[in-house]
Amino acid sequence: MLQLRHVALGLVLLLAGVGADGLAPAWFTAADVSPARKLAGGHCGPMSRELLQTVAKDNTVLITAVDQLVWKSFGPSFVENIQAANISYWLIAALDPHVSLAMGALGLAGHCFNAPQERLAYKGQSDNYQWGSDHWHRTTWNKVHIMRAVYELGFHIIQSDTDVTWFNDPLPYFMARMKDSRANILVCTDSVSSENPASDGGLEVAPHPYTNVNTGVYFMPQWPGGMSFFDEWLSWQPKNVGHDQDGFNYMTRGSYASHDEKMAKPIFFGPGAREFAAAYHNTTKIGFLPASSFGNTYTYVNAQLHKLLNHTLYEVHWVWGGNTLESKRQCMRDAVKFHDEDPYYTSPGLQLMTFDLDFLPMPEDYNRWRMTEKMIRFHVEAANHQLRQAYWAFAAALIANRTLVMPRFRCYCSKNWYQTQQCRINYEQATQFPFTCSLSQLLRTKRLEQQGFWLPGNNEYNGHKVFIREYSFLENAKVPDEIKRGVVELVPSSNPRLPGLKPEQLLLTTEPSPRGYGQRVTVAAPMSDWELRALLAMPVLASARVLHLPAPYQILSGFSKFDTHHQYDVEIQKRVTYWCCRSPPDMRALNMTDRVQLVALPPDRLHNLPPLAPAFHAQYLHQLGPIPVHPDGGVS
Ligand SMILES: *[C@@H]1O[C@H](CO)[C@@H](O)[C@H](O)[C@H]1NC(C)=O
Ligand SMILES: *[C@@H]1O[C@H](CO)[C@@H](O)[C@H](O)[C@H]1NC(C)=O
Ligand SMILES: *[C@@H]1O[C@H](CO)[C@@H](O)[C@H](O)[C@H]1NC(C)=O
Ligand SMILES: *[C@@H]1O[C@H](CO)[C@@H](O)[C@H](O)[C@H]1NC(C)=O
Ligand SMILES: *[C@@H]1O[C@H](CO)[C@@H](O)[C@H](O)[C@H]1NC(C)=O
Repeated sequence: MLQLRHVALGLVLLLAGVGADGLAPAWFTAADVSPARKLAGGHCGPMSRELLQTVAKDNTVLITAVDQLVWKSFGPSFVENIQAANISYWLIAALDPHVSLAMGALGLAGHCFNAPQERLAYKGQSDNYQWGSDHWHRTTWNKVHIMRAVYELGFHIIQSDTDVTWFNDPLPYFMARMKDSRANILVCTDSVSSENPASDGGLEVAPHPYTNVNTGVYFMPQWPGGMSFFDEWLSWQPKNVGHDQDGFNYMTRGSYASHDEKMAKPIFFGPGAREFAAAYHNTTKIGFLPASSFGNTYTYVNAQLHKLLNHTLYEVHWVWGGNTLESKRQCMRDAVKFHDEDPYYTSPGLQLMTFDLDFLPMPEDYNRWRMTEKMIRFHVEAANHQLRQAYWAFAAALIANRTLVMPRFRCYCSKNWYQTQQCRINYEQATQFPFTCSLSQLLRTKRLEQQGFWLPGNNEYNGHKVFIREYSFLENAKVPDEIKRGVVELVPSSNPRLPGLKPEQLLLTTEPSPRGYGQRVTVAAPMSDWELRALLAMPVLASARVLHLPAPYQILSGFSKFDTHHQYDVEIQKRVTYWCCRSPPDMRALNMTDRVQLVALPPDRLHNLPPLAPAFHAQYLHQLGPIPVHPDGGVS
């Protein structure tokens, strides 16, 4: 971690030595070990047995292959997290000179190598990180070529995608499975649940042929069939089946992956067997890593499976959350697992606002509810109730021109890109409501992160912009105490206020905060935006690093100017997302679309909501009629 703190990573990339002809420099492509290694202070050296041996533990190395694009998004976080997890045997395979130099600049050239160019089928570059793009497809196969090259040198390998966060060292787990399991490869799945009981943290107890394998993380120890398995896997690359993971699924799960009955089937060994033989390499046995310990965004955020089953969490692959890069990053930030550059935490100009939420009471038996539509509606009502408080918080932050720390929003239903049942994915039963929402379940994270919140063209709030921070921000060790303890609470007086007060009359008392640090300022409330703005200019409030509003809706009554308030309504609602998705049978039975648009506007301002275009296939909760009663006793 230390090494990362003081290096401006952006600069490093500018120095990267790609020649004008687009060719990588000789130091990057050199396969000759001895002289090139001497250069390795400033960048990674070539892949060699000697390097691997230096790093390996129990003859095992953990490797992630990274190109410039992925590095920019996840590289520094990967490195920081793996160091924090006390994993020593990790290596980055630099797919281009940029990554190689960035690792050198961090003083970590001993933990990386330049990907052996002669092994790669694809050497193109792209400046667009996009899931499913051609560049992305081809890069995924490069990972397999690299893993094969390392495996060939006789090491057990753990392959890890770079958008994986390692929480704990998995080596003891893998070593134990080498003793108690017959599986040759242990691989993750896209499962959102586990059939293992709490007492059993071993491989997934009943691997199912319909479960999609996720090659984001796998462990492949040495065994005699290993090289031939790699060759079989790579033979799927020219068959245009998709990315490396598709190739793995076709090869191991055969017709269960392709839904083509002509394809071979894997061999299952009956009850109790935790491994199956690959359809196209039937001497290789595959075991599934349990989602409780080797998780994804859904199992970590929504289901919290590792806590429920009391299993050690080794890693989270940040998939199965929101679909943008920004929502992924936000989940990592929430988990205190994203590396931002120092000013993000420490900037002297950083002025924050925080607020508390009031929640609707959840019905006691809610977690046993079976009627999906009833659950959706409770969730949307409860989400809107929270967003309507965020409405006043964003308004106060706009007036104060402060960065708003998100509260822990509570979710009572999972948002997904595809249908859920009883608000859970794939009929899983583990998720208990409420859980702490990832931001993209309620707000449009990409928009908020990239643009902040502001009123374009507004002459009253010109130059005011609200950026956001994740809910865990003030718990992050990187945030200095000076910020954490520089709190001023702004609380409304319980007495009714008088009209026509001057700013200094709005401020009633200033006293030490009962929390033991910072101050509490009691004010006459509610007040208009103009009044709040004048009040906030008073030194005790203007200088606060953190302005905490326990109940923003009790402080602020609205914007004085009609046009500004109207514009505020329009702009804030643009940051609000929708819930998704009803199942197709429910949609037919209810005659409803798959989405419900969430709302931040207070009940008396709903006239400012935009009409929803039919192409958006969403409705507002207040426009849905009562839940129709189905002739055969209800829906779902
Ligand atoms: C890593 O090691 C340090 C020092 O021994 C320890 O404090 C920390 O808890 C360890 N972290 C993990 C995730 O095991
Ligand atoms: C395993 O695969 C081979 C072909 O590689 C095939 O001849 C054999 O029948 C398969 N074994 C089983 C049990 O299906
Ligand atoms: C969870 O597991 C740990 C050991 O891994 C054990 O000490 C603890 O008692 C378990 N807790 C529960 C609630 O089962
Ligand atoms: C608002 O805050 C930003 C920093 O986030 C600052 O650059 C800007 O000048 C401020 N605007 C006003 C009007 O004070
Ligand atoms: C379904 O809803 C649409 C509009 O939302 C309406 O026009 C149509 O009549 C409804 N169909 C039935 C069968 O109720």
